[in-house]
Amino acid sequence: MQKINLFDTTLRDGEQSPGVNLNLQEKLEIAKQLERLGMDIIEAGFPASSKGDFQSVKEIASTVKNSSVTGLARSVTQDIDIAWEALKDSAEPRLHVFIATSPIHLQHKLKKTPDEVLETAVTMVKYAARKFPIVQWSAEDACRSDLPFLAKIVEAVIEAGAKVVNIPDTVGFTTPAHYGSVFKYLKEHVPNIHKVDLSAHCHDDLGLAVANSLAAIEAGATQIEGTINGIGERAGNAALEEVALALHIRKDFYQADSGLILPEIKRTSELISKLTGMTIAPNKAIVGKNAFAHESGIHQDGVLKNPLTYEIISPELVGVKQNPIVLGKHSGRHAFRTRLVELGFALEDNQANVLFEKFKDLADKKKDITDDDLFALVLQKQVSSDERYKLEALQVQYGMNNIPTATITLRKHNGEVVQEAATGSGSVEAIYNTLERCLAQDIKLLDYRLQSINGGPDALAEVFVKVQSEGVEASGRGVAFDVLESSAKAYLNAINRLFAIQQHRTKQEVM
Ligand code: KIV
Ligand code: ZN
Repeated sequence: MQKINLFDTTLRDGEQSPGVNLNLQEKLEIAKQLERLGMDIIEAGFPASSKGDFQSVKEIASTVKNSSVTGLARSVTQDIDIAWEALKDSAEPRLHVFIATSPIHLQHKLKKTPDEVLETAVTMVKYAARKFPIVQWSAEDACRSDLPFLAKIVEAVIEAGAKVVNIPDTVGFTTPAHYGSVFKYLKEHVPNIHKVDLSAHCHDDLGLAVANSLAAIEAGATQIEGTINGIGERAGNAALEEVALALHIRKDFYQADSGLILPEIKRTSELISKLTGMTIAPNKAIVGKNAFAHESGIHQDGVLKNPLTYEIISPELVGVKQNPIVLGKHSGRHAFRTRLVELGFALEDNQANVLFEKFKDLADKKKDITDDDLFALVLQKQVSSDERYKLEALQVQYGMNNIPTATITLRKHNGEVVQEAATGSGSVEAIYNTLERCLAQDIKLLDYRLQSINGGPDALAEVFVKVQSEGVEASGRGVAFDVLESSAKAYLNAINRLFAIQQHRTKQEVM
C-alpha cells in the first residue's frame, strides 16, 4: 500500500479566500487541530508577505511537533531568508519556493525568458537548500506550461537540491486525464525524477480539484496539497478530507492511503468553518450536515436493515457523533475541562477557570450545553482577547410602527467611553449605524449571516459579518442569546480586526 502524504495549505492558500482573515490565536488553534488530524505537512503561511504572517508561521513552527511545518517564498533571496527566520525552530524546517513556468505568466507577469526563469529557479533552490533540509519547488501554472520546458526545469531543480516537486494547476484548468498525462510525461522525460516526491496542487475552478488530485495519484504523485473544506483562492483548493476518504474507501482501486486520523475530520472541518466564517454547504461530501442523512423512505428502510445498503462511509469513521454528549448546569469543573480537552482545546488553568464561569452562566439559561455551544464559548473568548473596542451597553427600541433606534456605549482600550444613538430601517441597521457613528469611520457591510447553534428556542445566535473600510476587508463573529446582541458583537469584532490590519499596514509603510 502506497502512503500518500497530505500537505495542508488551509492557513496559506485557504486564508487567501476573499474576506478570510485569521488572527494569530486562531491560526495556532487550527494548526494544532491539523496536527491532531495527522496532517503530514502544514503550510502555515507566507512569512515574507506581512509581519503578521511571519509571526504566525514562527509560532506554529515552534509549537507543532508531529507535522512538518512549511512556509511559502517567492524566488527571491529575501523571501527565503525571512522564511528561514520563521521556520528555523521547527522540528523539520521545510521551504516551499515557487516560480511560474507557463508562457502567459513568463510573458505578462515575470517578463522573463524561459532560460532566465530556469536560472532563477536553480539559483534559488540551491540558495534555499543551504539553509533548509527540505526544499519543495513549485512550478506555478504548470498545467498551462510547455511540457518539454517543464521537464527541463524540473530536472534542473532536482539537480539543484529540491526534495519535493509540485505541479500545480494554479488556475483550475486541467482535467483528470490531462493532469495524469502531465505526471506521466514528467516520469518518462525527467531522468532524476525518482529522487523526489511528486506533488499535486489543484484549484477547483471547474469543480475538478479532487478528481484531478486522484488522477495525479494514479499517475505517480505521492503528495497531495489542499485545504480542509476545500476553501481557498476563487473556487478553492482540493478538499483534503475528500481525497483522504476516497483513498480510504477505495483502497482496493488506488492501492494507497493517507495517514489521516479520520475521526478527527468532522471536528477539524467545524473549527475551520467557524473560525473562517466560511459555512459548509449542507450537501458537501463528508462534512456537510446532510452527508449522512437519509430522506427517502426506501433508503431509510434499507439503512435500518443494514447501513451498508446505502452508506459507503459510516458517520463515526469521520467523527460525526450520532448521540452528542451534553453538559448541563450540574456538570462540574472537571467534566467541563475534560470535554474541552476531548474537543482539542488545551487551555491554561486560568483560561479554563474563566471559561467555566461563562459556562455556568450559559447553563443557567440553557438546559443542554452541546459541543457546538462549547466551541462557541471558547472561540468567543479568544475573539475578545485583543479587542480595541468593547461593547459596554446596547439598547434597542423597536415597535412595528416606530423607527428602530439603537443606543450604544463602547469602551476604548485606553479607557475612554464613546456613546452614540442612531436610527435605521431595521434594528440591525440601527445598531450598525450607531456603531459607525461611534467609530467615526465609513464602514461598508458586505455580508451578514445569522444562524442558530443547534436550534431550539434557547439556542445561541451566531452572526458572521464581513465589512470593508478604506480598501480593507475583515470578517467578524459574534455569539449571544439575543440576535441583536450577537449582531453588534460580530460587527465590533470585524471592526477590531479591521483596525488591527490597518494598523499593521501603517507600521509596514513606516518601516
Ligand atoms: O496555486 C498555486 O500555484 C499555488 C502555488 C504558490 C503553489 O498556490
Ligand atoms: Zn494554490
